[in-house]
Amino acid sequence: MDIKINKTESSKLVETNLENIPFGRFFTDHMLEADYENGEWKNIEIKPYQPLVISPSIAALHYGQAIFEGIKAYKTTDGEAFIFRPQDNFKRFNISAERMQMPQVPEELFMDGMRKLIAIDKNWIPQYKNHSLYIRPFMFSTDELIGVRPSDGYKFMVILSPTGPYYTEHLRIYVEEKYVRAVSGGIGFAKAAGNYGAAMYATSKAKKMGFDQVLWTDPFEHKYVQECGAMNIFFMIDKKVITPDLSHGTILDGVTRQSAITLLNEMGLEVEERPLSMDEIIDAYKQGKHIEVFGTGTAVTISIIKELMYKDFSMQFDVDNWKTAPLLKSWLNDIREGKREDKYNWMWKI
Ligand code: COI
Repeated sequence: MDIKINKTESSKLVETNLENIPFGRFFTDHMLEADYENGEWKNIEIKPYQPLVISPSIAALHYGQAIFEGIKAYKTTDGEAFIFRPQDNFKRFNISAERMQMPQVPEELFMDGMRKLIAIDKNWIPQYKNHSLYIRPFMFSTDELIGVRPSDGYKFMVILSPTGPYYTEHLRIYVEEKYVRAVSGGIGFAKAAGNYGAAMYATSKAKKMGFDQVLWTDPFEHKYVQECGAMNIFFMIDKKVITPDLSHGTILDGVTRQSAITLLNEMGLEVEERPLSMDEIIDAYKQGKHIEVFGTGTAVTISIIKELMYKDFSMQFDVDNWKTAPLLKSWLNDIREGKREDKYNWMWKI
């Protein structure tokens, strides 16, 4: 694949402190851009990071034909750069594209484009604890038309953002029973931009009440847990780990979710993927069972949940005595930093 490369003459890196850098606010020197026109991908270019010039009538702005991915690159302790499980994100990207009636992005464009871009901006990968280079591939429709139909033209891009931890504290979560994130037959399994916009109303309300995020419940009975903010959710109750199953198409097939299941199995823990009701969680809490609750996601990695507020019942968890979630987090971090054997071949060398 022919990728034109046009490098910047003045890097912003000298004026950027990569330590304790907030999530998603700073971007590297370059970006990848490609256009889909007349049924083929063209104008593939890595160029200096810059604003786009777009028409106010492009379809994406009006009807939300827009999808994205989140991936992370790391530098191991000996300075080599790796991307974590990018092939899984690539596959999911095209699943999202299909659901949103957008073209498939060829593997070569997605993977080689990303690899070349990161190789150019490799010095932007922070090497501090819990830091990484967040990779954001995305695609949106570009037809200048406000009629409602799938666009003929699209833009695929990759931008890179050096980042520190997404959350710095353990989380307080509000269990949402009125608003929903996704419904069976909808787009919950896709990484569609609209899923995130639609979540903001309930999330803002929870934040005003002093919580960090919402725990979404099912759309019909508001009884079964779904996702937590933009994370998948796991509950460990005594020795059993439970996470909602993907069968209804309402839950994102998280790459960190899959990784967590694999590592928990390696720890000898059984992970049940099945419906989990709030009643089951409350019963376990009232019976004094050992409960660990955590969210998983590319941006957050493993995030510990210290409180769940359900109706007016607050469940506070004894996070200082948890063993499993912190161990999972450190195993995952150690694999990414090259300190633990990568036995599942998750690290993809740049
Ligand atoms: C990710 O984990 O990459 C996400 O999609 C969350 C993001 C919307 C901040």
